[in-house]
Amino acid sequence: MALLEVQKLTKDFGGLRAINALDFTLKEGEIVGLIGPNGSGKTTLFNLITGLLPVTEGHIFFKENRYDLVHLKPHQITALGIARTFQNQRLFNKMTVLENVLVGFHCRTRSGIWGSILRTPATRREQKEVKEKAARLLEIFGTRLIDKRNDPAWTLSYANRRRLEIARALATYPTLLLLDEPAAGMNPQESRELMSDIKKIRDHGITILLIEHDMTIVKGICEHVIALDHGVKIAEGVFEEVRRNEKVIEAYLGRRAGLGKDA
Ligand SMILES: Nc1ncnc2c1ncn2[C@@H]1O[C@H](COP(=O)(O)OP(=O)(O)O)[C@@H](O)[C@H]1O
Ligand SMILES: [Mg+2]
Repeated sequence: MALLEVQKLTKDFGGLRAINALDFTLKEGEIVGLIGPNGSGKTTLFNLITGLLPVTEGHIFFKENRYDLVHLKPHQITALGIARTFQNQRLFNKMTVLENVLVGFHCRTRSGIWGSILRTPATRREQKEVKEKAARLLEIFGTRLIDKRNDPAWTLSYANRRRLEIARALATYPTLLLLDEPAAGMNPQESRELMSDIKKIRDHGITILLIEHDMTIVKGICEHVIALDHGVKIAEGVFEEVRRNEKVIEAYLGRRAGLGKDA
């Protein structure tokens, strides 16, 4: 079943058309790779899906009820079940690892702001439950984050910071998770680990749209790949098909980035 259906989506920044009449569908339970040279519109697409930027034209239908996300605010889209990570990390550095995840849970707790201020028994119970759930989320990454749950986020290694961003996104209980270059800056061992972590997340029933430049990762975990250039979809299909597509090769050859030969 289609979880997300993007129809004729267009985004203009002044005279620049960053997304151009884009159509695609995400099926439930897939890991889909979104590739394309720098500036091709990948992050902009995430900003449109999550409501951070207004859409110029087109529709983004989500779930069976076909909510059109272009009419909704970011917090409503989060509540419907879409979470993301950012290309540039946005953690709360002074907060602990666990607290960063608790921020993500905030939109799903019942007692809300008054409960937190008045510290009712129901709130205390809920806070304990939420802390336990947050700890379980951290355990997705083995012992890497859970052992550091009380350390401030700024003390984490680069790879752990990226993992924590994913854990925080998962705390909103998404149906669809958007990952913006999660492996950027990771070494090969860390990237391999990330691949299995992403698969694990999918196996929990979460659909994943993944922006990634590392073609070993795209080849390794994406069932389906969409290639963008100048905001236009230039190819779509399984990795091997997309990699051999002439428009894709041309788009990458025209820039410095290449589609690694060994991918
Ligand atoms: N907020 C913005 N205002 C103006 N131009 C933008 C904005 N965000 C992105 N762009 C432009 O849109 C194009 C696509 O950018 P982006 O989506 O970041 O590409 P990618 O993530 O594929 O590298 C680029 O030309 C970029 O400069
Ligand atoms: Mg980007």
